[in-house]
Parts: sequence; structure tokens; C-alpha cells
Amino acid sequence: MRVLLTGAAGFIGSRIASVARERGHDVVALDAYLPQAHGDDVAADDQVLRLDLRADRLDDVLAGVDVVSHQAAMVGNGVDAQDLPGYAGHNDLGTAELLAAMARTGVADLVLASSMVVYGDGRYDCPEHGDVPPAPRREDDLAAGRFDPRCPICGNDTDGDITWRRIGEDTPFRPRTSYAASKVAQEHYADAWCTLQDGRAIALRYHNVYGPGMPADTPYAGVAAIFRSALARGEAPRVFEDGGQVRDFVHVDDVALANVLSLERVHDHPSGVTAYNVASGQPFTIGEMAAVLARAGDGPEPVVTGEYRPFDVRHVVASPDAAVEGLGFRATVSPEDGLARLATDPLRTR
Ligand code: UD1
Repeated sequence: MRVLLTGAAGFIGSRIASVARERGHDVVALDAYLPQAHGDDVAADDQVLRLDLRADRLDDVLAGVDVVSHQAAMVGNGVDAQDLPGYAGHNDLGTAELLAAMARTGVADLVLASSMVVYGDGRYDCPEHGDVPPAPRREDDLAAGRFDPRCPICGNDTDGDITWRRIGEDTPFRPRTSYAASKVAQEHYADAWCTLQDGRAIALRYHNVYGPGMPADTPYAGVAAIFRSALARGEAPRVFEDGGQVRDFVHVDDVALANVLSLERVHDHPSGVTAYNVASGQPFTIGEMAAVLARAGDGPEPVVTGEYRPFDVRHVVASPDAAVEGLGFRATVSPEDGLARLATDPLRTR
């Protein structure tokens, strides 16, 4: 198949390009080489065309393409309100321009990079009220070291605490950050495009992706890159809250595999957007993750600081079942092994 791949110079996009080529696909690779991700004076790769989805004409590169893999995005969570136009421009407008060009050129199959951040705070079981979204965490709770959220109905003042449950793809959107808002918007634009064009889209909701080539520490980096960079400087990973926050760490090779399986299968999906969690299925706490990395890297023991950030969510854990069923995708790298390898994997420093 001929695949148009956006964001092809990025951490995930570059792995998708390799795996897709290994499986015999012809990849037309694009990237805008955003300075925040690639530095100011990056030399464009011969194999990756420099194109900005917001401004450049895409019709020529879409000629003869069977399916689009849309990975290009401004990432991170958005650290202040001044980031909002950047997310809206790159992620919302960029996607809208791409979809309009696909409609003009008759390309009807799309695989979209989405994220677990669309679920916001996740879902919990209350002993009294069953499946609930959690109430927003209260400043007085956080300051007192109570990091787990409460039931939005009873507050768990008398009953036991709520406990996290695995999130399925039918969980309602509850975006909490500028980045999350733009990922929800991308899924909505894809849905509208499917209706207008009788298109088919797969939205892959990545959980915490890590692995070789991940960008080093920046204000927009995820926790695995931050800890790995601290260890490289000989410093201890600084674990916020009490370290009990649960995430699903999924290796970049598995994310690339899920993408290529989606490219191969999207045409057989029904019209409209089908979403899949892309996760290892093996939850890990942030404290455990820091300990695995520190041990494997022979670095200083993690420090649990008790700090907290207003935009952080407490526990987000996916159900990986739909991707097994719909894509035949099962993660092959266990977080235990992959995170230990991350201690010595090279990071991209731009
Ligand atoms: C991360 C990404 C998000 C992405 C999602 C799924 C960032 C900032 N976040 O969200 O964009 O869509 O994964 O792939 O890129 N923590 C520490 N010490 C630190 C930094 C963070 O203990 O130095 C803790 C945080 O308090 C939080 C957890 O680690 O509880 C995860 O943080 P982070 O990786 O920033 O955000 P996610 O919500 O997992």
C-alpha cells in the first residue's frame, strides 16, 4: 500500500515509517520539523519532505495514496494559556486541512494518533455508587497528602475510597488540558469528515509511550523522558505525589506495530471513527517505574517529593481488549523489560 505519513521525523512517526517499510509498504513521509521538537537549524532528512499541513498544498503528495497515517501534532500537555493557539493551529487546523485535501483527492482511509488524555481523570468504582468519573481533586486534600480522588456523589467521607477501573473506548471524553482538547477535536473532525466523505478512520489512543529516540527532557516531556534525563545527569528521579499514580507504559515498537496493523485494516472497518486504546495492558505506578529505571541505570534511588501539579490526573489505565479484537494487536514488550532498557536507550536531544 502507499501510505502518506505525517509527523514522520518524530519519535513515533519515525518508528512507524521503519515498520511500515519493513512490511513492504511504500511510505511518503512528511514533517513540518517544528523547532520546539527538532531545534532551529535541523537539516531535513532526504526521506522526509518538509511540509506544514496548515499552509502547504497537500494534493500532490496525496496522489496515488491509499491510506493516511496522521501523527503530526504539537505534543505535551500545554504548560500555559499561551500554548492554546499552538495546539489549535498545529493539531486542529492542521488536521482539518489534511482532511479537506484527502476529500479533494479521494483518499478515504485514515489512521489518527489520538491519546488517553481524551479520557481526562479516567473512571472509578465507588463502593456505594458504582462506575463514576471522579470529582475534581480538592486543593485541601492534595495539600494534606490525600491524592486519590473522591466519588462525585458521596465524596467517600464515610464509605471506602473509590478505586480505578480500566477504561474502555466508550468512556466519555473529558479533556483537561489544551493538548487533550486538541486530540478530542481531531477525533471530532475525523468523524465529521467520515460522514461527509463516507470515510473510515481509526483513532489510536496512545497511553504513555516510551522507548529509544524519545525526546529528552523539555517542559512538554512526559515523565519517562524526565526521569531518564535526570538519571543521565546523575540525579535521582523526582516522583510527585506519593508515587502511587498508575499509568500504562507502552513501548514505541508496539505503538508502531499497532499503527501498521491499523493501516492494513482500516479499509475493512465500518464508515466512521473506530477508537482503540494502545496500551501494554500491564499497569505500573510512577514510583515503580522510577525504581525500575534507576535500578537498570545504576542511578540514585528515586525521591518521592509529595509535590503535585494542578493538571495531573491520578490514575489512567486502559483496557487493551478492543485492539486485540479489532486489530489483532497485543503489546509484545513488557513494561518491566522495556523500561529497564530505557535506562540505556538513546534519547533524542534535537
Ligand atoms: C503523558 C503526556 C501526554 C500524553 C500521555 C499519553 C506529557 C506532559 N504528558 O500524560 O501528553 O498524551 O502521557 O501518552 O507529555 N511526574 C512525576 N515527576 C515528574 C513529572 C511527572 O512524578 O518529574 C508524575 C506526574 O505527577 C503524573 C505522572 O508522573 O502523575 C505522569 O506525568 P506525565 O507523563 O507528565 O503526564 P501523563 O498524564 O501521564
